[in-house]
Parts: sequence; structure tokens; C-alpha cells
Amino acid sequence: MDSMWMPFLLTLLLSAAAADSSLFEANGVPIVRNISEINQDNYGRLGLSHITIAGSVMHGFKEIEVWLQTFAPGARTPIHRHSCEEIFVVLKGSGTLYLASDSHKNYPGSPQQFPIFTNTTFHIPINDAHQVWNTNEHEDLQFLVIISRPPIKVFIYEDWYMPHTAAKLKFPYYWDELSYGQTAPVKDEL
Ligand SMILES: *[C@@H]1O[C@H](CO)[C@@H](O)[C@H](O)[C@H]1NC(C)=O
Ligand SMILES: *[C@@H]1O[C@H](CO)[C@@H](O)[C@H](O)[C@H]1NC(C)=O
Repeated sequence: MDSMWMPFLLTLLLSAAAADSSLFEANGVPIVRNISEINQDNYGRLGLSHITIAGSVMHGFKEIEVWLQTFAPGARTPIHRHSCEEIFVVLKGSGTLYLASDSHKNYPGSPQQFPIFTNTTFHIPINDAHQVWNTNEHEDLQFLVIISRPPIKVFIYEDWYMPHTAAKLKFPYYWDELSYGQTAPVKDEL
């Protein structure tokens, strides 16, 4: 074959490789991933499906983390607080957010209730005790969760009247437990 075709063939080969997006990775994480193929688990919690879409412990992201969670009817988070920003985007279903914002007490106290449903978004003020509950008995509740300052450190309350100082630290959190220590996240000064 005439060597004048070589640069052309090389370009063709390279662009064929470029079309396969799975070949492009950053920190070992492919740039484009199919959510259906990312590991999901209930981490021992009945009625939960959790997918860490972009994680600190799992993938090495430093400043934010993204989860996709699905709660079966009746499933709920524990009553808990954490010192990070947290934003929810409800994709499907409906339920109730319970939020205790009365920070002058030494316990959360009776929470406010907020109905949540498809296409609502809500955020949790830093350190406010809260609980998300699928109170719709007919449908799954699914949302994206975005948190800052991962990995998350969660303080869990047994009820709304437990003193803040008695809330129990759960760290690493359920989905961080398995890989924690194997790939310790590198934190900078943020
Ligand atoms: C994503 O993964 C699911 C499950 O493996 C598969 O059925 C689906 O076709 C995939 N989607 C694309 C666009 O590859
Ligand atoms: C959610 O709201 C956006 C903005 O109004 C709209 O484009 C979208 O269709 C809505 N989705 C659903 C499921 O209602």
C-alpha cells in the first residue's frame, strides 16, 4: 500500500477509538456511564435502593457527592443530621420531609412536615435534624441527592426528643463502609 495513506488510516483508527466513550476515564472513572450498570444495593436497609453515582470514597470526588435513591412505600431514612449541604431532586413518587429547624433547643423537637412529590426539590439546612419518608403507600419515591464535603458523617437520633449530644455518629456511612480505608479520600484544605 502506498505510504501516503498512512496518516489517513491513523486518523481513522484514532477517531474510531474516540467514538468508544468508555475509553475515556478520569481518576479511573469513565466520563460517561450508564446508571443501569452502576452497582445498587440496599446496604441492609429494607425498602431502599442506593446508587452512589459519584462518590468520594468510591470514586475519589472531593467536594460533592451524588446519589440516586429509591424508597419503597413506607421506607424512610433515620432521623439524622450532618454538617454538609444537601439538595434533593425528586424524580418520581411522593412522600414527606420532616425537618426540625429549631436550633435553640438541645434536642430536635417536633418536626415541620413538608409534602414532596415529582419535580420538587428541597434542601436541608446544615445540621438540621431531618427524615425523608415515603408516605405514599402505592408508589416508589425516587430522588437524586447531592451533598457537599463528602464523605458524609451522619449523627442518628432514636426520636425527635433525643438530645443533640446523644445522637450517634455513623461513620463511615453505610455505602462508604465497604470501600473505606481501601481508597482513603485525599482531602485538601477546603
Ligand atoms: C444501559 O444498561 C442497561 C442495563 O444493562 C441496558 O439495558 C441499556 O440498553 C443500556 N443503555 C445504553 C444506552 O447502553
Ligand atoms: C419538571 O419541571 C420542568 C420545568 O418546568 C419541566 O420541563 C418537566 O417536564 C417537569 N417534569 C415532570 C416530570 O413533571
